[in-house]
Amino acid sequence: MPKRSIAAADLAGKRVLIRVDVNVPLAEGAVGDDTRIRASLPTIQHLIDQRARTILVSHLGRPKGKPDDKYRMAPVAKRLSELLGQDVATVGSVVGPDATAAVERLAPGDVLLLENVRFEAGEEQNDPALAKALAALADLFVNDAFGAAHRAHASTVGVARELPAYAGFLLQREVDELSRLLDQPERPFVAILGGAKISDKLAVAGSLLGIVDALLIGGGMANTFLLATGVEIGASLAERERVDDAKQILAAAKATRKDILLPVDVVIATDMKQPGRIVEVAAVPAGESIFDIGPATITAFEQAIAGAKTIFWNGPMGVFEQPQFAAGTREVAKAVAAADAYTVIGGGDSVAAVEQAGLADRIDHISTGGGASLDLLEGTELPGLAAIPDIVR
Ligand code: 3PG
Repeated sequence: MPKRSIAAADLAGKRVLIRVDVNVPLAEGAVGDDTRIRASLPTIQHLIDQRARTILVSHLGRPKGKPDDKYRMAPVAKRLSELLGQDVATVGSVVGPDATAAVERLAPGDVLLLENVRFEAGEEQNDPALAKALAALADLFVNDAFGAAHRAHASTVGVARELPAYAGFLLQREVDELSRLLDQPERPFVAILGGAKISDKLAVAGSLLGIVDALLIGGGMANTFLLATGVEIGASLAERERVDDAKQILAAAKATRKDILLPVDVVIATDMKQPGRIVEVAAVPAGESIFDIGPATITAFEQAIAGAKTIFWNGPMGVFEQPQFAAGTREVAKAVAAADAYTVIGGGDSVAAVEQAGLADRIDHISTGGGASLDLLEGTELPGLAAIPDIVR
């Protein structure tokens, strides 16, 4: 269902509170990867062009409800100013007299970035008092924070009940693009799942199985599946308490004649600082760990990817931050970029891998949401999205 869009709002001169997700990696006090900031620009620029008084609010990291200098918004404001080509004001608080005064200083077309909303204890509890205090700063609310749409917090859900609420361009675009995967995708549809934690992705693996033709599983989560097939994995990371869940997914795949491709060979070492060596998956000795998929697995995955017409990828194939264990993730990134298919990538690490390889512009949609994109694909309602009124036709 389309959401009431910012495009339809009368914004001139209005105070507009916009929830963005500029939760970006910081390196030595500066913004590392600015993908999420750039993704927020179209909505912010629209507000500027419409001469709104723009008040941005976001979380950064997980500061646990109190101020933490590591997570101040100043580096984000600096990068945003550079990208917008205009000054972005900051204030040392989220709500209260200083924030109110900073809003009062805004002229039409100006932009203010409030302090990290997770410095407020009420944010993650969706405290109505915080929602009301945020709402008191503005005339309208816009949610453009797709990456935080799976969180029912004061700045995503509570405030939407207090003000006329609209969807920003990024939020709507994310939902439209990801919905293409669910709504009659062109076949074959191949999903690639990786990353360390199977518990985060079990539900999505189960629901993806209902819509894909093949599921390729790499990264740490493949280890739990390997255990489920009876393969010993040495000292590799795995979630042994989830082996039964993995068995159920494998059984469901068999019953519905869907392919699940697991690693047939892997790159192992005693620890991730050591050089790796390639072995067949059945030959991982006790005391060594799997850190990447091996070349035969890469070839099998490449073949499945090359034949696909729709591809979704979330999660790296190995410890790609270490060059000796980066090949699996890098080659999968190349194969996805080269595929003649509708391609979607979500999740910070796989997006970073594609950016690092310089392949981002060859992907149809790079989602700014990790957990949010998985929840959407799993069919779970996103509270931040649900809080925006639907368009009534
Ligand atoms: C993300 O990085 O996935 C979003 O910004 C949400 O962050 P969170 O997992 O800390 O809520």
